[in-house]
Amino acid sequence: MNILVTGGAGYIGSHTVKELALAGHNPVVLDDLSRGHRSNVKWGPLVEARCGDEQRVYEALVEHKIEAVIHFAAFAYVGESVHSPRMYFENNFVQTLQLVNAMHRAGVRRIVFSSTCATYGDAKTVPIDETHPQLPVSPYGESKLMVERLLAASGIAEGLQWVALRYFNASGADLDGELGEEHDPEPHLIPRAILSVLGKAELKVFGTDYPTPDGTAVRDYIHVKDLASAHLKAVQYLMDGGESLAMNLGTGKGSSVLEIIHAIEKCSGRKSSAEMAPRREGDPPELVADPRLARRVLNWECRHSDIDTVVSSAWRWHTRNA
Ligand SMILES: NC(=O)c1ccc[n+]([C@@H]2O[C@H](COP(=O)([O-])OP(=O)(O)OC[C@H]3O[C@@H](n4cnc5c(N)ncnc54)[C@H](O)[C@@H]3O)[C@@H](O)[C@H]2O)c1
Repeated sequence: MNILVTGGAGYIGSHTVKELALAGHNPVVLDDLSRGHRSNVKWGPLVEARCGDEQRVYEALVEHKIEAVIHFAAFAYVGESVHSPRMYFENNFVQTLQLVNAMHRAGVRRIVFSSTCATYGDAKTVPIDETHPQLPVSPYGESKLMVERLLAASGIAEGLQWVALRYFNASGADLDGELGEEHDPEPHLIPRAILSVLGKAELKVFGTDYPTPDGTAVRDYIHVKDLASAHLKAVQYLMDGGESLAMNLGTGKGSSVLEIIHAIEKCSGRKSSAEMAPRREGDPPELVADPRLARRVLNWECRHSDIDTVVSSAWRWHTRNA
């Protein structure tokens, strides 16, 4: 299949492009390189453009005879979205609307969308299944929920076929060491904790008095290779005429901040200099997925998401590239 991967120069997008190419598909990356890296684009052509450039997107869809789009391109920092909400609504929602316009014009009818557990807001029940109320508490989560709504309405009105994948915490690095997580600044726990044991960043543990076993926040870490394989299955599902729907991608198992730090200390043989700090506004105590729907619908499961594999793959990549 010819597949347009927006945001394919970024972290999750580049790992997915590699999986697509290994499976014999033809990925074409569309990325404006605002937050991604040209060096991540190794398995197909790069169209350097914004998703909001309707004409360029249309031309790319037609030129490469695209059959489906996987849409990763977005800004993805909750804290930044609180300070710059217009930037988030413009980049994540308005530019997705323009992408969908271009798809409509080019007759491309299938899209797999990167949604997020941030669309749920504060967890009322854990694990979180797809029927949990969607009440986001950040402009980032709002912007992603608006896209889900756009896709659902376009599906009803115009026959757009869509899958929204609500990821929990993407983590780890390519098992062959070719790709890894590289954000600047780096807000995610695992790379930040690795950079901290390497003496290249400070690490704060926000909140030590949560109602969790060790008092620190619990999250569901899913290996980026498992996320990538779910995208392949989701595209195939749409090609086979599967019904449009939203699904969680997570492991169903939570790890606390301290458990992650200890795993990194064990893997690196170094001591973390993490500082304990008060809770951060808007950080829920526990976010863990109920992943059963995706397992059933996509016939998919996590194969690399145990914490040792997540941490050791990230450690290997960071020590070679940071
Ligand atoms: N990382 C996570 O834990 C996580 C969790 C849930 C959801 N997500 C979602 O997954 C997707 C990918 O996340 P990531 O961590 O790989 O992010 P990333 O920043 O590494 O990658 C995003 C890519 O999109 C590109 N981009 C951004 N806006 C663009 C635009 N308007 N036009 C063209 N290119 C644009 C960037 O240059 C970058 O290469 C995002 O949509 C994010 O919201 C990520």
